[in-house]
Amino acid sequence: MPTPWTPDSWRSKPIIQVPEYPDPIVLADTEAKLATFPPLVFAGEARDLKKRLAAVAAGDAFLLQGGDCAESFAEHRADNIRDFLRVFLQMAVVLTYAASMPIVKVGRIAGQFAKPRSADIEKKGDVTLPSYRGDIINGPEFTPEARTPDPQRQIEAYRQSAATLNLLRAFTSGGYADLERVHQWTLGFLADSPSGQRFSELADRISETIGFMRACGITSESTPALRTTTVYTSHEALLLGFEQAFTRLDSTSGEWYGTSGHMLWIGDRTRQPDHAHVEYCRGIRNPIGIKCGPSLEPDTLIKLLDFLNPKEEPGRITLICRYGSDKVEKALPKLIRGVQKAGRNVVWSCDPMHGNTITSASNFKTRPFDRILSEVDQFFAIHRAEGTHAGGVHFEMTGQNVTECTGGAGAISDADLSDRYNTHCDPRLNADQSLELAFRMAESIKAERLAHAPDLASRPAAE
Ligand code: PEP
Ligand code: CO
Repeated sequence: MPTPWTPDSWRSKPIIQVPEYPDPIVLADTEAKLATFPPLVFAGEARDLKKRLAAVAAGDAFLLQGGDCAESFAEHRADNIRDFLRVFLQMAVVLTYAASMPIVKVGRIAGQFAKPRSADIEKKGDVTLPSYRGDIINGPEFTPEARTPDPQRQIEAYRQSAATLNLLRAFTSGGYADLERVHQWTLGFLADSPSGQRFSELADRISETIGFMRACGITSESTPALRTTTVYTSHEALLLGFEQAFTRLDSTSGEWYGTSGHMLWIGDRTRQPDHAHVEYCRGIRNPIGIKCGPSLEPDTLIKLLDFLNPKEEPGRITLICRYGSDKVEKALPKLIRGVQKAGRNVVWSCDPMHGNTITSASNFKTRPFDRILSEVDQFFAIHRAEGTHAGGVHFEMTGQNVTECTGGAGAISDADLSDRYNTHCDPRLNADQSLELAFRMAESIKAERLAHAPDLASRPAAE
């Protein structure tokens, strides 16, 4: 039997990936201050997301999750948020058109600051410093000042999250996401790329359909669903002192919710069933993601599901599989069968980023686009073969024209990586690569849809 849960019960469990703050009293004071700040999201919104994810688990919707590997204080600008949202909405439109089903949109945004690291320290020449752990903890510059964890950064991360979320809410409800503006989402630098052109053709078709609907009396003024959309927020629940400060009792349900983001996930490095991160997530009622990497055995996963979702609540758990293009074929069917055998209800999502990171000849951490595509393709094919729903995808991406992942239609080479390598952590898909991936997934999703409803085969092709 698990012991009783409280927002701080994680503190008595083993924990890894924690920064060493020089002054525990300043840290405790900061956490106490954060606990008085207004929540970033509301419990009711997290419940809505859970309902939508339940539809994904049932095969009636698709999850699109994506954003920065690590948000940064330096890149916090309105145009960056807008450019991310534009590409994200473009991807969602491509997928909606192909899937003929709702796309649940969840950003890695407005709180995705804390990073697990493979080493606690970084060495350059004779100098050894603590590793960079994300802007909410320390700074990326290789100096003792920047690398010393500073609690004040948690206050700044809260401020940035609140401002980001505010702008997202304004964009998504204030007319920017209106489908009548679908053409305006094309970014300048995408206009000439093959996926940009493909999107423009799709936008033409959507505009034509909207014109037809308008003639029938259905307009974005009369139909809010055409005018507004919802983008939920998510991040890794890694910095538990911060998460605890935003754990609030919901007066409607009398249950605890994490109010720092709608969906929280447990990283591949911190998912030990008896450790602190799993303990924390057990007691909040938000939708929870579990990163599933090559070392996760089906038995351990079932134990995690028993612990995190004992009542088998639909939409509660999303399994974010991140194996690598060379490992997914062997590992994923085993996990799917384990979950099916145990009769568990989950969302299956594919993170084709974290198992496909390599170091380029030019010494950049990069990800070959072909491997990313290959993992996504295999994910869909495996689910088709197992008879389960390939429910969603999870990307590290940006709306900027960065050069961080090699390949794609823009044929970014090793030598190009240094041009616009802006990430603070892992390499992200740029806007063009993100859209190219969306079109590729659209084909797989359509194949899944047609396999389930062959009579739809006579419909015109989606692209
Ligand atoms: C991440 O999503 O940025 C991450 C660190 O992933 P994982 O826990 O799967 O390695
Ligand atoms: Co990452």
